[in-house]
Amino acid sequence: MSSVEGAVRAARRAVVFTGAGISQESGIGTFRGPGGLWERFRPEEVATPEAFAARPELVARWYAERFAAMRAAVPNPGHRAIASWEALFPSLVVVTQNIDRLHQRAGSRDVLELHGTLWVSRCARCRREVATESLPPAEPPPARCDCGGMFRPGVVWFGEALPLDVFARAEAEVAAADLFVAVGTSATVWPAAGLIELAAASGALLVEVNRDETPMSRLAALTRRGAAGEELPRLGEEWGRWRSPS
Ligand code: OAD
Repeated sequence: MSSVEGAVRAARRAVVFTGAGISQESGIGTFRGPGGLWERFRPEEVATPEAFAARPELVARWYAERFAAMRAAVPNPGHRAIASWEALFPSLVVVTQNIDRLHQRAGSRDVLELHGTLWVSRCARCRREVATESLPPAEPPPARCDCGGMFRPGVVWFGEALPLDVFARAEAEVAAADLFVAVGTSATVWPAAGLIELAAASGALLVEVNRDETPMSRLAALTRRGAAGEELPRLGEEWGRWRSPS
């Protein structure tokens, strides 16, 4: 039996760490690389508190378009495979950088959203949170709160801190994990990418599923180079065989 097989057979706590690449096959664009969002838009013009303060209408329209695309998207076989792994391991936590909620829609029950979600909007003044879908259309956007403040997307912008409680739980889960699977992330945005080093330092078996090489690749004990929607169901089949009582 290979050391990878032995570690997967013995694993009790799994963490799946995901980035934009897992939703690519659901039709949601990634940030980096050819055709990526950050090739067409500058993050500082749409994804910072300063941009929202200076041009709220433009930022609100940009996110409204992205939210419409996410709402229309459906989970792909990669999301569904991860949800099905809850049956394989006693504990399975998804730690995602994505804001699209496709993991939850695929059935994953324990999802930590490091960068927030577009499905929630928050008043920039009184911090009240509402479901984005419940906001009445405003012309010009953004919609206004009863307090007079503007609703902003419930996501983490550049220059903002990650939600402390969410990140603290992610760190604790990663530190306790014996299996850590990173999927579709360029592993370049901090502090999220630091979870990979933490997993390595804590002795977890590191698996990477990505179309391309990343800074994480050198740490991974097992690498699957390909589309998440194809590779994850395949891994799941193999791991299911390894973990079913023989
Ligand atoms: P990136 O766009 O940086 O990276 C996506 C990764 O997925 C790349 O390594 C691609 O090679 C890979 N990839 C693309 N399609 C794939 C597929 N079908 N199957 C497998 N791999 C695929 O996205 P993130 O790493 O998520 O933050 O980016 C991290 C953060 O940067 C985002 O959360 C966002 C962004 O700026 C904020 O907005 C705060």
